[in-house]
Amino acid sequence: MQPRDRLIVALDLPTVTAAERLVEGLGDTVTFYKIGLELAYAGGLDFAKLLVRSGHRVFLDLKLHDIPTTVERATRQIAGLGATFLTVHAYPQTLAAAVRGRGQAGLAAGGLGILGVTVMTSYSDADLAEAGYAEGVAQTVERRARQALAAGADGLILSAEEAARIRAVVGPRLALVTPGIRPAGSAVQDQKRVMTPAEAIRAGADYLVVGRPVTAADDPAAAARAIVAEIESATPSR
Ligand code: C5P
Repeated sequence: MQPRDRLIVALDLPTVTAAERLVEGLGDTVTFYKIGLELAYAGGLDFAKLLVRSGHRVFLDLKLHDIPTTVERATRQIAGLGATFLTVHAYPQTLAAAVRGRGQAGLAAGGLGILGVTVMTSYSDADLAEAGYAEGVAQTVERRARQALAAGADGLILSAEEAARIRAVVGPRLALVTPGIRPAGSAVQDQKRVMTPAEAIRAGADYLVVGRPVTAADDPAAAARAIVAEIESATPSR
C-alpha cells in the first residue's frame, strides 16, 4: 500500500457541491474519502458512486445498528455502491449480520470491508455506567475487538491511543482505522485524545481518518501532502 492510500479524508460537509469542490482541489494527493451521516443524508450516497467511478475509494461511515435481518439487507444494498468500508456498531449480532450482508468478498478480496465501531470516543467510563454497562471503556473496547474478529469483520474504528493494545489483542487480521489525528501544531478542536499521523502509524494504525486539519486548511492539498509525507516517514518497512 502506498503511504497516501492510508489517508482517509472525512468529507464532513453539508452539500455534495462543497464535497466535489474539495475533492477536485485535493486531486491525486487523496485517494480515499469518508462520507458520514451529514453528507449521506444530503445526496452523499450517489456522490459515493461517482467517487468510486472516478477511481477513489470510499468509506461509508453509516454506523448501522438494527435487528440482524435489517442490517444484513441494508449491508447488501450498500455493498452494491462499490464502497471499501462500512461501519456498524460492534455488537455481535450486528457484526455477524453485516458480514453475511457483504457476502464472501470481504476487504481482502476487494469487496466491502465491515468495520466495527467499538466504543464512541465521546463516551467515558461514567457514560457507559450511566447507559447500564458493567465494564469501562478499555474493557469494552477489548471485548468488542475480540467479538469483531470472531464475527469475521474486516476492521475496527478506534482511537490511536488504543491501537497498540488492540493490535496485540487481534493480531494482523483486522484493519485498524483511527480518527482523532492532528499534525503537530494544528488545532485540536473537539477531539479529546489526539495523535500525530506518525505516532498513529507507529502505534499500529493502518488507516488515518482526518477531517478538519485538511478540510478547514487554507490550502487543503498542501495539508494533505504534509500528512502523507509524515505517514511515509513513519512506515519505512511496511
Ligand atoms: O475533523 P476531524 O479530524 O476531528 O474529523 C474526524 C472524523 O472522524 C469525523 O468524521 C468524526 O465523525 C470521525 N470519528 C471520530 N471519532 C470516532 C469515530 C469517528 O472523530 N470515534
